[in-house]
Amino acid sequence: MLLPLIHKWFLLLFIVKITCAVRTYTKDDLIKLREEVREMFYHAYDSYLRYAYPYDELRPISCDGVDTYGSYSLTLIDALDTLAVMGNYSEFQRVVDILSAKTDFDANINVSVFETNIRIIGGLLSAHLLSNKAGMKLEPGWPCNGPLLRLAEDVAKRLIVAFDTKTGMPYGTVNLHSGVPKGETTVTCTAGVGTFIVEFGTLSRLTGDPLYEEVYIFN
Ligand SMILES: *[C@@H]1O[C@H](CO)[C@@H](O)[C@H](O)[C@H]1NC(C)=O
Ligand SMILES: *[C@@H]1O[C@H](CO)[C@@H](O)[C@H](O)[C@H]1NC(C)=O
Repeated sequence: MLLPLIHKWFLLLFIVKITCAVRTYTKDDLIKLREEVREMFYHAYDSYLRYAYPYDELRPISCDGVDTYGSYSLTLIDALDTLAVMGNYSEFQRVVDILSAKTDFDANINVSVFETNIRIIGGLLSAHLLSNKAGMKLEPGWPCNGPLLRLAEDVAKRLIVAFDTKTGMPYGTVNLHSGVPKGETTVTCTAGVGTFIVEFGTLSRLTGDPLYEEVYIFN
């Protein structure tokens, strides 16, 4: 549910940017628009916490939660970096504490490799990289160290088995506990192949382990 809102937010910023050439906005207009975005975000975020957490997503009509992609409180992780962007550092810290209590993502669930990469690994990595801005106590060696980075790496290790194909293009589904399910198809799409460069590249650079980048580029 948060994703369409966040897209809307970027769209709004984009529109503001391109229309600036023909129309000027006063500072007050911009503050008003910013507050509108903030209101939309909190409407979605608070409703998720109230009605859906710890499930993955909120169902806005029935007002309850449902696990969609992996039973890993997807929206909480998805929204984390936005909290930092919004300047809500106390809530950011609260969510980081919840996530840091988790030691790994070991679970007998089949997840989408694509979604888990962009939303869980991507969400954890961007929150990790924003933790200094959010005023968190940083581990020595940050940004090459930290609880969110360790979690991101744990997830990546569970996804990496998906790349064990003839073409090097990943399977679409893995089981977080046992790897690629029997009978999984190699049929995929360009986004399902192309998206990993950002997250896996970042992971390799931060952890110093070339595996993630290599499995992707040199396979
Ligand atoms: C941060 O978010 C939480 C949850 O929505 C809210 O209760 C709190 O008032 C927010 N704090 C700030 C500073 O915006
Ligand atoms: C995962 O997928 C495989 C293959 O379709 C299936 O046999 C297995 O029961 C699924 N596991 C879960 C936990 O849904």
